[in-house]
Amino acid sequence: MNSFTYSYPVKVYFGEKAAEKNLTAELAKTGPNVLLAYGGGSIKKNGIYEELLGILKDAGKTVTEFNGIMSNPTYAKVQEGAKLAKEKHIDFILAVGGGSVIDCCKIVSAQAKMDADIWELEYTDHQQPTEFIPMGAVVTAFGTGAEMNNGAVITNEDKMLKSALWDAFYDFAILDPAYTMSMPLKQVISGAFDSLSHSMETYMGLPREVNLSDEINEATQRNIIRNIRSTIQNPNDMQARSELIWAAAMAENGILKIGKATDFQCHMLEHQLGAYTDCNHGQGLAVLHPVLYRHMMPEANRQFARLATEVWGIDKAGKTEAELAEAFVETLAEFVKEIGLPSSFKEMNIPGDTDFKAIADSTILTGGCAKKFTREELLEVLLECR
Ligand code: NZQ
Ligand code: ZN
Repeated sequence: MNSFTYSYPVKVYFGEKAAEKNLTAELAKTGPNVLLAYGGGSIKKNGIYEELLGILKDAGKTVTEFNGIMSNPTYAKVQEGAKLAKEKHIDFILAVGGGSVIDCCKIVSAQAKMDADIWELEYTDHQQPTEFIPMGAVVTAFGTGAEMNNGAVITNEDKMLKSALWDAFYDFAILDPAYTMSMPLKQVISGAFDSLSHSMETYMGLPREVNLSDEINEATQRNIIRNIRSTIQNPNDMQARSELIWAAAMAENGILKIGKATDFQCHMLEHQLGAYTDCNHGQGLAVLHPVLYRHMMPEANRQFARLATEVWGIDKAGKTEAELAEAFVETLAEFVKEIGLPSSFKEMNIPGDTDFKAIADSTILTGGCAKKFTREELLEVLLECR
């Protein structure tokens, strides 16, 4: 096991009426000017907006709204939010939404506290922000686990990069399963697949021998798979929904990563696919994972074979490690179809003449992946996904 320090700054309020029960006490710790941030308006249809605005008003806050945060948030939107936060002297940001709103606000919280351009600071000067506007997240769409970590995935349209900016943590996260019941089923499934992907990408990292984190990870993956199936059978299954929300958080709250370096090669490729096509993140992963994993054999066979038996329950009797690894990858591909996720870019309406070479050439090659990919091979992967 690698050396580690474990400490976690995000306080989680999980369960029914978590906002009603806990938000007022959290707001008592903040200054008067609150930025209420949200996306395209789903929270106005499902009543969450009214409920939260009521709590904010009762707490005597002056509320400034920052809305229209799009899926795959752009750097321009971050700058818009930071400008607003500076102008209105914002003391606290309440981000209400899924990974996109939650990520966008992380970088707003840092950019609003500095004059320097945060992209240049992190990618040119290789420095990190040190001051942030305090924040709380109310999760209305789960999957990314963005509420739990200090990474924010932002699309820089000028640079054609979808990349992580780092270091802003939420002070608290409110996870009420009831708030997610209005999510379209398609988004529930693609979000849950994203959580499965985070678990797999962590599991596949270094070191490759099993440690406690990996055994917890195997349980997390089994849980996600089972609860995706339960949710498809009954989209109103609150127990399954609750499990999926916590599994999404578990995959990104650091516990599965303890003592490990992660893989995340599939994510790096999907993020650049997103930069060029603005595609849905979980769907992009669903198409890429089986194809990328076929390319990772035989280097990743040992871990794939373990996933076959420990996560997917494949009988190992009479099978070699290579056969088990192949059975895992093909079972994963079948699962993608079973749960109605796309298996090709065509199914995602990504045109066949997309500049896949530019996507491959701009993808970060990760150190934790069992296979050391070249950009040429990543291009092959992308072309096979068409
Ligand atoms: O914008 P509104 O109208 O709210 O609609 C949203 C959006 O269209 C809708 N939605 C959210 N809550 C809802 C709801 N609709 C009905 N009822 C509700 N309760 O759902 C749609 C998708 O939301 P979005 O936030 O875009 O999805 P997701 O949570 O999957 O976030 C995706 C973003 O997170 C990044 C992705 O790359 C992508 O940009 N990621 C962030 C990560 C992180 N910070 O750790 C890790 C991930 O790997 C990922 O890269
Ligand atoms: Zn993801």
